[in-house]
Order: sequence, then structure tokens, then C-alpha cells
Amino acid sequence: MEKTQTPEEIRQMTRARFSRIAGDPSSEKRFPVGPESAKRLGYNPAEIDALPRSVTESFAGVGCTIALGPIEEGETVLDLGCGAGLDSLLAARRAGPGGRVIGIDMTPEMVRKAEENRRQLGMENIEFRQGSAEQLSVEDASVDLVLSNGVINLCLDKERVVSEIYRVLRPGGRLYVADIILEDGVDQATVEELGTWSD
Ligand SMILES: C[S@@+](CC[C@H](N)C(=O)[O-])C[C@H]1O[C@@H](n2cnc3c(N)ncnc32)[C@H](O)[C@@H]1O
Repeated sequence: MEKTQTPEEIRQMTRARFSRIAGDPSSEKRFPVGPESAKRLGYNPAEIDALPRSVTESFAGVGCTIALGPIEEGETVLDLGCGAGLDSLLAARRAGPGGRVIGIDMTPEMVRKAEENRRQLGMENIEFRQGSAEQLSVEDASVDLVLSNGVINLCLDKERVVSEIYRVLRPGGRLYVADIILEDGVDQATVEELGTWSD
């Protein structure tokens, strides 16, 4: 039986994995990454194909969060665990010049890639920050919409993440989330098998 990992070890493994996916997206063999995955999940193929490859190649989402409801002009949107920034960039187009998107991710290589993508597209209404979903560097009641695509399952303190989302949303704010969940029936031996859930 493998040794149980500490929270910090799990965090470091997650960061290492997404750092690798930022630099070499084709190295990920366990789950789908990239533009073809985005199209399969419901993103508009024409919109995906029109974007530079660097915006879509490290997409690692599990759903199409931006299609879960409206994104209105002028809104402030937080993309929690933004990765290389696909959802942030598409949300910023919809929120328009009077709106604003904040993308936060704990992996520095993803944040750097998202920022390069933003600069390449010349979009001024987005700001990418490195940070933790468990402790958001965002003011209370300042956000209209939180997007989160494939992130909360990776967070170690999910209750804290939900309470942070609640804190930053304005009254009446919305959360569009796509994620993966475990159903019943996974035994402890399987959970403890290194390689089943992570590298
Ligand atoms: C599956 S990827 C999805 C990225 C992006 N949402 C997308 O759709 O391409 C998960 C992202 O969440 C980030 N992440 C994982 N745990 C996090 C945490 N506790 N706080 C902030 N970001 C986190 C990872 O660095 C990674 O970029």
C-alpha cells in the first residue's frame, strides 16, 4: 500500500502536472486537453479554430462553462482556476470593454501563458493573477459571475473554496461550474493506489 501524501505534497503534484500541461500539452495522456476536447464539450468550433493555438492547446476543462448561462456586457467575471485562460478570454469578449475578467490560478506557468495569450489578443479587460481558490485575492461582493471549469475537484479544502466564492459574489451573483465528481462505490484500496487519481 502506498504512503498517504500530505496536503502540501498533493498540491505540489497538482502544480507540477499543470505546469507540464502549460509547457507541453501533448504530454498529458490521462485526460483530454486542447481544442478538440473544447469542441467536443460544446464550445463553438468556429470560435475555437479562430483563436491562436497557444490559447486552446492547454485547455483542460471538463465542460463548457461559458455556455451555462448569459454573460452580460459590463459584468465582472472571476475565472477560478483559469489555466491558460480560454474561458477568461471568451468571457471577456462577452463582458465587453465595460466589463472585467479576473483569472486566478495557482500554477505560475499557466498564469504566465494566460497573460501572454491576453497580450497577443490585445485584450485590456482581463487581469490574470497567481493565487489559491481557497484564499481569493478578490474583494467581498465585487463579482457578478464566477466561472470554474475542472478545478474544484482538485482543491483540497472544497468547503473553503465554496465559502470564498460566496464571499466574492455580489448578492444575486451567479456561479457556472463544470466539474467531475466521484459516485459511491470506490473502495479505500483504490483511493490509496498511487497513479489512480494522480501521477
Ligand atoms: C483541469 S485544469 C482547468 C484549467 C482551466 N479552467 C481550463 O478550463 O482549461 C485545473 C486548473 O486548476 C488549477 N488549480 C488547481 N487547484 C487550484 C487551487 N487550489 N487554486 C487555484 N488554482 C488551482 C490548476 O493549476 C489548473 O490550471
